[in-house]
Amino acid sequence: MFPPPRRQDGDAAIRLTDSDAALARLSAVKKHYLTDPFILPFIARPHLQPHRPPLINIGTYVRSEALDDLVDQWLTLADQEGKPCQIVSFGAGSDTRFWRIATGPKSKCLSKYVELDFSEITTKKAMAIRKSKELSALLGRPEDVTLGGGGSALHSPVYHLLPTDLRLPPSQSFGPLLAAAPTLLSPSLPTLLLFECVLVYMTPACSSALIQWFTDYFAGATESGVLGAVVYEMFNLRDAFGKVMVNNLKARNVTLPGAEPYPTVASLPSRFSSEDFDYASALTLREIRRAYIAPSELERIAQLEMLDEIEELELVLEHYAITWGVKLGSGADGLKASWSGWGMKQKNGELRNLAI
Ligand SMILES: C[S@@+](CC[C@H](N)C(=O)[O-])C[C@H]1O[C@@H](n2cnc3c(N)ncnc32)[C@H](O)[C@@H]1O
Repeated sequence: MFPPPRRQDGDAAIRLTDSDAALARLSAVKKHYLTDPFILPFIARPHLQPHRPPLINIGTYVRSEALDDLVDQWLTLADQEGKPCQIVSFGAGSDTRFWRIATGPKSKCLSKYVELDFSEITTKKAMAIRKSKELSALLGRPEDVTLGGGGSALHSPVYHLLPTDLRLPPSQSFGPLLAAAPTLLSPSLPTLLLFECVLVYMTPACSSALIQWFTDYFAGATESGVLGAVVYEMFNLRDAFGKVMVNNLKARNVTLPGAEPYPTVASLPSRFSSEDFDYASALTLREIRRAYIAPSELERIAQLEMLDEIEELELVLEHYAITWGVKLGSGADGLKASWSGWGMKQKNGELRNLAI
């Protein structure tokens, strides 16, 4: 079990960002941008929650589609390699991705799905899972599902929910955990690290330490698996619009130290190139909406709600990006070409992936 999280000022405000993310997703689901049959148990009084403006719904849609696409490709490549894969979601909040994969066609490709967040969030999530027959049933037989850490952790054969403060030195948090539970994550399996709107709340030093620790953990294996990582978050916060975003969040006691090193989209892949990844790339949500979403989908969502201001939408989407990187493992020799092809693909088929 992880050591108890350190109390820090401002954490309550950071934890509240989970409700924002969940309510934005709920709004996009209710307005038919997205389908998510598992979101309701994680939201109090979902029928009373107000819809978000079209601009937010579109942003939520673009981000979800892009992340789903990268995760789906990862599962497919692992399947082609003939190895089950592992996914670790940092700052997972109320995310439902595990259940969406578990009920999808690639469920068999997943050997472990680990979610990490503050203990307040994981306790709430564990409770919501236990209360929902539908969510619980997908974890396996009841006797194989256990709560731990005074209700803040949940374990099942594939899905694990664990409390931690990600700012702790990983050698003190992940080191002892993986030493005590060596089957939790195997460094020889293809593993995807998901950072969906979480690193931005931490200092760059803390997030580098986290990525570096996982890179070393995999590199230390005799036959290391491919390591992939995806980061979704705000960047480009030095322009006038970015400053407004920063000030709005400051008024809610939330700061974004993690965005500081990334003023441009070109600066984003350095997060992975500095950790010896083999490939890394980044796209803004604006670019993704323009060239990486199928035209039929764009047409479909255009029918859902009236959006007056395309310029305003593009301005918002220019301040969010998805960055991804791959570090090829020592065991992936024959499959390097496939794994290096993991990345967002334009709807005209062009791959956006830059070798470092
Ligand atoms: C904006 S929410 C995103 C939730 C989810 N990943 C999503 O995209 O829907 C940020 C999440 O990161 C978690 N988080 C932020 N800093 C953290 C830290 N230092 N340790 C653990 N969790 C953290 C918050 O509690 C929250 O659940």
